[in-house]
Amino acid sequence: MNKNPWFDKWAKKAKEMGYPARSVFKLMEIQKKYKIIKKGNIVLDLGASPGSWSKYTLSIVGEKGKVVGIDLLPVKIIHPNFYFIQKDVFELEEKDFKTLGIEKFDIILSDMAPKTTGDKFGDHIRSLRLAEKALELAKNYLKEDGSFVVKVFEGEKLPQFKKQIEKCFKSVKFLKPKSSRKESKEIFIIAQGFKK
Ligand SMILES: C[S@@+](CC[C@H](N)C(=O)[O-])C[C@H]1O[C@@H](n2cnc3c(N)ncnc32)[C@H](O)[C@@H]1O
Repeated sequence: MNKNPWFDKWAKKAKEMGYPARSVFKLMEIQKKYKIIKKGNIVLDLGASPGSWSKYTLSIVGEKGKVVGIDLLPVKIIHPNFYFIQKDVFELEEKDFKTLGIEKFDIILSDMAPKTTGDKFGDHIRSLRLAEKALELAKNYLKEDGSFVVKVFEGEKLPQFKKQIEKCFKSVKFLKPKSSRKESKEIFIIAQGFKK
């Protein structure tokens, strides 16, 4: 029996399925609804640790696809099509992707989250900063018509951020996954059809 109070049925189910974190069910729900990830895709996974989203994405993209994970913390995935860069997203450089032979991505995912403090407005702003950085990377590294999925903690500046995304994508939807904790303020934005 796991004594961690956050260890709930979703976490248990994830472990049973071989995923390190419950967050995998959120991406599964997004995938079921929007079918964003396809065979052969080249995917950037921002905030990849401990590795559930990357592992699930690798299972869809197949042997012709690639997944590049970025995180401050390590990811323990050994897979021929997985590349991991342990770095702060704000310190990423063009050469980080170039050395992997990658110029553009079909999909950019961001499940990045700041350490929450309980100060709702502060957490919202810190999460928005990460989401805005993810959008900047999407503008620089997404292929035309590509997709962008980003997590953000809800708050008063969310409508402004949504507007920024709408300028760059043909379709923008919000999803609050069933597997998110009830008290969580997180919401996912699913943007499809990147306009150059
Ligand atoms: C909810 S976890 C991601 C879980 C992951 N999607 C999975 O399925 O295993 C959020 C991650 O964002 C990462 N993160 C937060 N700020 C970051 C930053 N500035 N640069 C890179 N990663 C960051 C954290 O280290 C943490 O691992």
